[in-house]
Amino acid sequence: MFKNSKIYVAGHTGLLGSAISRKLKEHGNSRVIEKAHIELDLTDKRAVFEFFSTERPEYVFLCAGKVGGIVSNKTYPADYLHINIAIQDNVFEAAQKYEVKHLLFYGSSCIYPKFSLQPIKEEYLLNGPLEETSEGYATAKIAGITACKAYNLQYQTNRFIALIPNSMYGPNDNFNIESCHVLSALIYRFHEAKISNTQSVTLWGSGKPRREFIFSEDVAEASLFAMEHVEQLENRHYNVGTGVDYSIEELAASVAETVGYEGKILWDMSKPDGAAQKLLDSSKFLSLGWEPTVNMEEGLKRTYEWYLRQSLVGQTSDN
Ligand SMILES: NC(=O)c1ccc[n+]([C@@H]2O[C@H](COP(=O)([O-])OP(=O)(O)OC[C@H]3O[C@@H](n4cnc5c(N)ncnc54)[C@H](OP(=O)(O)O)[C@@H]3O)[C@@H](O)[C@H]2O)c1
Repeated sequence: MFKNSKIYVAGHTGLLGSAISRKLKEHGNSRVIEKAHIELDLTDKRAVFEFFSTERPEYVFLCAGKVGGIVSNKTYPADYLHINIAIQDNVFEAAQKYEVKHLLFYGSSCIYPKFSLQPIKEEYLLNGPLEETSEGYATAKIAGITACKAYNLQYQTNRFIALIPNSMYGPNDNFNIESCHVLSALIYRFHEAKISNTQSVTLWGSGKPRREFIFSEDVAEASLFAMEHVEQLENRHYNVGTGVDYSIEELAASVAETVGYEGKILWDMSKPDGAAQKLLDSSKFLSLGWEPTVNMEEGLKRTYEWYLRQSLVGQTSDN
């Protein structure tokens, strides 16, 4: 399937899209369609329909979207809602009209209620209020999951698949300190502290909250697996995680070790902690036969190596 099919990876420059494109090419596919944001703005309905009518992709991995950390989500909630809904709406409608075989959509763990029981099962969706800081983004994602189910039901198809990965990290992650997620922020801060010989790094909160992280290439493999085993999937969303969570304190220590930062790590307890734990119950997806293969130590090492290579490229092109 992956070798000979025409596959559109939307958002191929991003964290997940780049991992999926890489995997497809490793599997021997030479027909991956990649269109940069600047060439095709997926919020532009006319452009999306023109693209689908011309290219006629057989499979779509919808990795394009507006994605960011807490501060960015709090500052631009309307953008997170509107842009993600517009992208989904246009791409889903075009995929239906031009009879894409299967489209894979990605939710996020923030779709689940703020005070969910742990580990979080798929059926906890809409059981309670969302975390306020990511309400716009989460609401768009919930609309996407609902759209997958609704299209499948209305058109009696299994065209649309929804996976819910927990927090991802890996090469091509966003390291912009204004908009990035916690793990890339830690890499950035410890790296900067190491090269500037700063004696201590102060992080927000107590360090006690627990979070689950998954390497982007594991989610890419899970995505290919889902496409290949679509006949085994029910018309529902599936959690995709490692089943292992870490306290932010443990995570910070691992990142500092990977980066080689030997200074002190201090905690600013006046800053909020957020939810105590966010661990997905991925047993439904795991029971289909997929499992993650990259542990945190290996994933951090590969991410930091990529980060260093990028920094070198940046320095060379600045000179
Ligand atoms: N990162 C996570 O921890 C995480 C966790 C769970 C689920 N997810 C979901 O997984 C998917 C991929 O996330 P990611 O972290 O890989 O995102 P990412 O690294 O931010 O990549 C997003 C991609 O979408 C493109 N894009 C943004 N707006 C676009 C538009 N209007 N038209 C065309 N392309 C556009 C971006 O291109 P430009 O950069 O050029 O704008 C980029 O290639 C998203 O649906 C996200 O919600 C992510």
